[in-house]
Amino acid sequence: MMAHQTTPVATQADTSLQRPWKARWSQIAVNAAAVFTLSAAIIHFFVVPEHFQEYLLYGLFFIAAGIAQAGLALALVIVPSRRLYIAGLAGSLGMVALWMISRTVGLPFGPNGAWRPEMVGMPDIIASLLELVAALFFLRLIVRRSQQRAFPPGRVVLATVPLVLLATLLTYLGADAGSHDMPVAFNAAPAVAGHPSTSVTQLTEAADAHGPIKTFTLAAQAARIGGHEAWTYNGTVPGPELRVTQGDRVRVTLVNHLPVSTTIHWHGIRVPNADDGVAGITQNAVAPGASYTYSFVAEDAGTYWYHSHQDTMNQIDQGLYGTLIVEPSGGHVPEAHDYTVLLHTTPGGSSIAVNGSTTGLHLAARPGEEVRLRLINAVPPSMNGGPEAPVLLGAPYRVVALDGHDLNQPQMLGPERLPLGIGQRADVVFTMPASGAVRLVDTELQGQPSPIERFFTPPLPLKDVVTIGDGPVAATNDLSHLPIFDLTHYGVPTTDPVATAQFAATYPVVLATTPGFHDGRIELVHTINGQASPNVPPITVREGQVVRLHIVNETGEYHPMHLHGHIFSVLARNGQPIVGSPIHLDSILVGPHSTWDVAFLADNPGIWMFHCHVLLHASFGMSMTVNYVGITTPFEMGSRSGNVPE
Ligand code: C2O
Ligand code: CU
Repeated sequence: MMAHQTTPVATQADTSLQRPWKARWSQIAVNAAAVFTLSAAIIHFFVVPEHFQEYLLYGLFFIAAGIAQAGLALALVIVPSRRLYIAGLAGSLGMVALWMISRTVGLPFGPNGAWRPEMVGMPDIIASLLELVAALFFLRLIVRRSQQRAFPPGRVVLATVPLVLLATLLTYLGADAGSHDMPVAFNAAPAVAGHPSTSVTQLTEAADAHGPIKTFTLAAQAARIGGHEAWTYNGTVPGPELRVTQGDRVRVTLVNHLPVSTTIHWHGIRVPNADDGVAGITQNAVAPGASYTYSFVAEDAGTYWYHSHQDTMNQIDQGLYGTLIVEPSGGHVPEAHDYTVLLHTTPGGSSIAVNGSTTGLHLAARPGEEVRLRLINAVPPSMNGGPEAPVLLGAPYRVVALDGHDLNQPQMLGPERLPLGIGQRADVVFTMPASGAVRLVDTELQGQPSPIERFFTPPLPLKDVVTIGDGPVAATNDLSHLPIFDLTHYGVPTTDPVATAQFAATYPVVLATTPGFHDGRIELVHTINGQASPNVPPITVREGQVVRLHIVNETGEYHPMHLHGHIFSVLARNGQPIVGSPIHLDSILVGPHSTWDVAFLADNPGIWMFHCHVLLHASFGMSMTVNYVGITTPFEMGSRSGNVPE
């Protein structure tokens, strides 16, 4: 090797690698092309198993592509030649082109059928990026420029090392994302040949039910609301209120006019498993143009809601939810006024609304009359992480029910903030004062967000969401110092057979977060017992057992944990048994770094979701199932079926 030369004297005609300064430059380019091609090859090897599951041809293709790219990389280092550069350029651009076509218009064949675009994921973005960069180096090697600066020999190494580091990082990201990709197919409770089992599809409404039939049709359809494209039931957000009487046989036909598949889940009410509406567990998501009828007996009076359970986070955000009120079998509740107050966000999530209104709601009531407000929270928490905490001002009140279930002898309360995680409900009752109006003001509890999160998402301003009656209203100052309602010390104890039963087992449910990969994305993965869905081992129960859950929140966030199809009795918070009324819930708000013990009677066979109702957390992995022994499902989640329950 000779010393470096400061005056380039290259000629176009010279294509050999004899000139030392040129050799050095090409060497860097050759090394770079080889390193990036090898990285793409490694990522392709990592996605082979998944592609085999998805589509045989793709599995074979990615093995072939991986081998070809690894071979090319090796050949580039050992026997670089112009021919190889041309082959490399054609191959790399070909791969990128195939990727772009498959993700936009689709290929004439593929896992989803001909001309059906596939989903874009982290591994394929990174592999294509690597191929594109390699292609640029190949191009430079083919089209050599005459005016090149000379390099001292050490430069080759100096330039190659960071390239290798960068490629290693990208390979790691792509390969790790590829091996934590959204599963192609996952069955929460597969049937096993030779083991007799009952399919969830057989778990339908009892044949001997005989209450009056109440029929509804909910058409899932797009509409423009407040300048936003919304997804609605029957054209409104929220969808129509379904009001039935305890004991009614409810029939709801979902007609899907949306461009995407969807379902309806009946949140909090105990329905037969086949009618639970969870895509990929209790049914296939209802395709565009198709319909599906849900049937169940409204056994429990109370305040409930319904919402899509397919691509739930998005579909709720777009507007697919409504309220379900079951009036007691004797008829109406005793209060003169029975109002539903659904807190939610406008489609797209930009502002808080109540029953569809962003300018507040006015409800009629005269002095001396009793009013029941059925509060339902469907507001996803902001980045601050805290749940809504509405406050009633202007009259003392009682919290008569939580999650639809009556409390025993609830006492009168002064103004207190009533924490409601998304999905939770509270019925409050008060008497209209002799003069003046009563107001419901929404506040938000604070989680323990990082300073950065706090900076980017200031809490939503206090909102006067509902005014009841007419006349002057009390001024609101800072409400953040008001006491927070505590369900562990409220009402009067009475017997609760579930809370005092012999527990068949106690299962830990440890909630935590860890940065990593989930569904092919970099996320703050939300885990239960160290795993993210669908890999959280289910809790297995037998019909008739009373099972205790010991829920531990290791995070600084609030997690409203919701169990489908069951009601649980609250036993203790942070080890302290509850001292007031028995509390029966379907969702428990687990605050930062706290623990709750709850117990439920396994009286509704099926495969039931148990998940955080902060749907972002659920989509980040905080979701699992409670499986009854002997029950299996024919449905699967994942990209093959298109069922995405979170
Ligand atoms: Cu409100 Cu799994 O649902
Ligand atoms: Cu959560």
